[in-house]
Amino acid sequence: MDKKIVLITGCSSGFGYLSAIQLAEKEYRVIATMRDLSKRVDLDNKIKTGNLPINVCRIDVTDLDSIKRCIKDIDREYGRLDVLVNNAGYGIGGFFEDLSDREFREQMETNFFGVLNMVRETLPLLRKSDDARIINISSAAGLTTTPGMGAYNASKWALEAFSESLRQELALHGMKVLLIEPGPYPTKVLTTNTRFAEKANDPNSPNYKFTQQLYVKYKQNNATLKSDPMEIARLIEKLISEKNPSFRNVHGPGAKLRAYMHRFLPWSFNEWVIRRVIFGKV
Ligand SMILES: NC(=O)c1ccc[n+]([C@@H]2O[C@H](COP(=O)([O-])OP(=O)(O)OC[C@H]3O[C@@H](n4cnc5c(N)ncnc54)[C@H](OP(=O)(O)O)[C@@H]3O)[C@@H](O)[C@H]2O)c1
Repeated sequence: MDKKIVLITGCSSGFGYLSAIQLAEKEYRVIATMRDLSKRVDLDNKIKTGNLPINVCRIDVTDLDSIKRCIKDIDREYGRLDVLVNNAGYGIGGFFEDLSDREFREQMETNFFGVLNMVRETLPLLRKSDDARIINISSAAGLTTTPGMGAYNASKWALEAFSESLRQELALHGMKVLLIEPGPYPTKVLTTNTRFAEKANDPNSPNYKFTQQLYVKYKQNNATLKSDPMEIARLIEKLISEKNPSFRNVHGPGAKLRAYMHRFLPWSFNEWVIRRVIFGKV
């Protein structure tokens, strides 16, 4: 059979960039998409040196026209799509009171409605595959919660619920929907791509003191991270190649423990741990 055709969103860096290369090296045909093509230089160099089967295409997941244009090109060239990896995303930090309506909605537009846009537009081509899969990159933050990350938590929890429902619908048509819930990995989402509420640094905010405490913890944790983002690239490949992969795939430092605690231990215990770890309060 021909090479499987895999479309990945958010390939300018991090998991998207790494998985595009990983899959192309394993003989998949990859459509690596990114919203800003000026960031394609590193990927282009890899394509050139490794002679990799990767097409680069511009997609901003919040821009329907860009999605439609790219899908039209795939249809013209290949006539089908086998795998969609919804990877594009970012996180905005800030207490709810400090987040503007616009900031909250933009978070949902990318991390949640962006996925809906991609699924809606690719489904006609996925239907033409005999083993179609949709892999949604959620987060351990889609199964747990942290103060100051409410917008990100909400976007990924919404993605979790949507994926559960969509999985059941598409299973009726022989398609698979899969989730990956990574713990923290040192990619740009934790550094240059992290956004903060404009009001988060306002000393007049009633949350100012707590936000600063959160920042300190966040920076401390990120500075000590030893996890390798290639693990997620390899996991994506595994979920594409396995016959019956599991639906949820919690992976990475502390992620399984946090998800387990949130799901099975009393909520009062979870709150106590968060207060103690982040704010040093008992
Ligand atoms: N790394 C972690 O610790 C971690 C943990 C759990 C979940 N995740 C999730 O993993 C996914 C990938 O993140 P990453 O860790 O690889 O971080 P990353 O290096 O920051 O990559 C994020 C990618 O998403 C792209 N993106 C953002 N908004 C977009 C939009 N509107 N349209 C198209 N692309 C957009 C970015 O493009 P630009 O370069 O143009 O900004 C970038 O290519 C995200 O969904 C994130 O929430 C990451």
